[in-house]
Amino acid sequence: MARVVVGMLGLGTVGTGVVRLLNDHKAVTLKRVAVRDLRKERTLVPRCAITDKAEDVVEDPEIEVLIEVMGGEHPALELIVKALESRKHVVTANKEVLAKHGPDLFKLAREKEVAIFFEASVAGGIPLISTIQKGLEANQIESVRGILNGTTNFILSDMEQQGETFNQALAKAQKLGFAEADPTSDVEGFDVAYKVSILSALAYGNFVKPDDIYRRGITHVDAADLKHAREFGYRIKLIGRAERTNGGVAARVEPCLVPLDHPLASVSGSMNGIVVTGHAVGELTLVGPGAGELPTASAVVGDVINLASALKLQDFASYFHGEIGVDWQSVVSADQWISPYYIRLEVEDHPGVIGRIGSIFGANQVSIQSIIQRGVAEQGASIVILTQPVAAGQVDKAMEMMKSEDFLVKVGTCLAIFEGRNGS
Ligand code: NAP
Ligand code: HSE
Repeated sequence: MARVVVGMLGLGTVGTGVVRLLNDHKAVTLKRVAVRDLRKERTLVPRCAITDKAEDVVEDPEIEVLIEVMGGEHPALELIVKALESRKHVVTANKEVLAKHGPDLFKLAREKEVAIFFEASVAGGIPLISTIQKGLEANQIESVRGILNGTTNFILSDMEQQGETFNQALAKAQKLGFAEADPTSDVEGFDVAYKVSILSALAYGNFVKPDDIYRRGITHVDAADLKHAREFGYRIKLIGRAERTNGGVAARVEPCLVPLDHPLASVSGSMNGIVVTGHAVGELTLVGPGAGELPTASAVVGDVINLASALKLQDFASYFHGEIGVDWQSVVSADQWISPYYIRLEVEDHPGVIGRIGSIFGANQVSIQSIIQRGVAEQGASIVILTQPVAAGQVDKAMEMMKSEDFLVKVGTCLAIFEGRNGS
């Protein structure tokens, strides 16, 4: 393998892991690393130049491959663009930049005949991207669905197993270093939406604009929902998915009830799990660490080594991402999404309430599959309903009608049930 000279932006969790792995690799020379604060104490100091001027790395003519592990949209975007313009290959873990600017970046990379590798941007240490890009090349990808965020999976698992509230479980995740100080991107589902956009580019050719992805996080999931879900034979997981449906590509992020016997139901703690369905291979499940220093660095350094071994081959850049388009992928309207639903209503407990709920659902073509009541008369009751598969828009209409009923104390939660492919 030819020797390759690389530079890196960022020496945080992932960057430190990259240095650790590259120290053992003779064919890759790490020449320069950029950080924000030169005075910060480091757990590992690389044996190369460290600078607080990112441009010094990007503008170094000897550097052939730029590793971007600084994160965030800006200035990471501008630095990646600069690197591509000066015909450097880029290895990035930055899902936000890819999801928001993927089409422009891949267009530029194509013009400059360089490659962008991004294995670490989705599911950390799990080789999901190369599996879809290369291993499943003979397949038409029908769906990519899974648990793509370790922080939220840890929180939901902890709430279910330890009976903790969302805030207690979040505090624990922060203490253990899973969740960031500002957990918004994880718990509100933005992180997963970026990953779904990238998966859509791999499976269907183009990135989906993150704003076009239907997105709900986990902040509204209550311990009561985890308990009721269990009674019906489900576990609640934050699911991201890009699927081919009869109406087009669907892209969604939402907490779902996953049947206990489904492989994703047993993916617990901070692990990630993804089910890829290809028309030839059928269902393939990948489970592993989706974050963390060495698992994520494993994906970054894997990309660097792959690049190093292919660098001198003619046309290798187009071989690696010839199929990633430079347009945005349109998606089907969220209203048309068909799924069975779990609905919890907090109601006053008096005769006729269940009959009225049934009438409202019936008037909106929502068919009830099961219904249970929990609670006692004086304190009100929880009514938990599982529906037959129905368009999301119909459920929304029924919920709106329900809100004007005197018996309703509040609409507790409404969650999709994860059950096979959309509409099947
Ligand atoms: P991190 O721990 O916050 O590290 C960020 C690094 O970038 C720090 O070393 C910081 O410098 C440096 N940096 C920030 N702004 C800079 C600037 N303007 N110029 C130069 N250096 C700058 O982040 P991380 O967790 O390693 O994540 C890095 C990327 O990997 C992100 O895109 C993230 O989404 C992705 N990722 C992370 C994980 C994970 O498990 N952490 C998993 C998958 C993907 P200082 O050290 O001086 O502050
Ligand atoms: N914050 C992400 C997670 C890791 O909790 O899974 C980076 O993708």
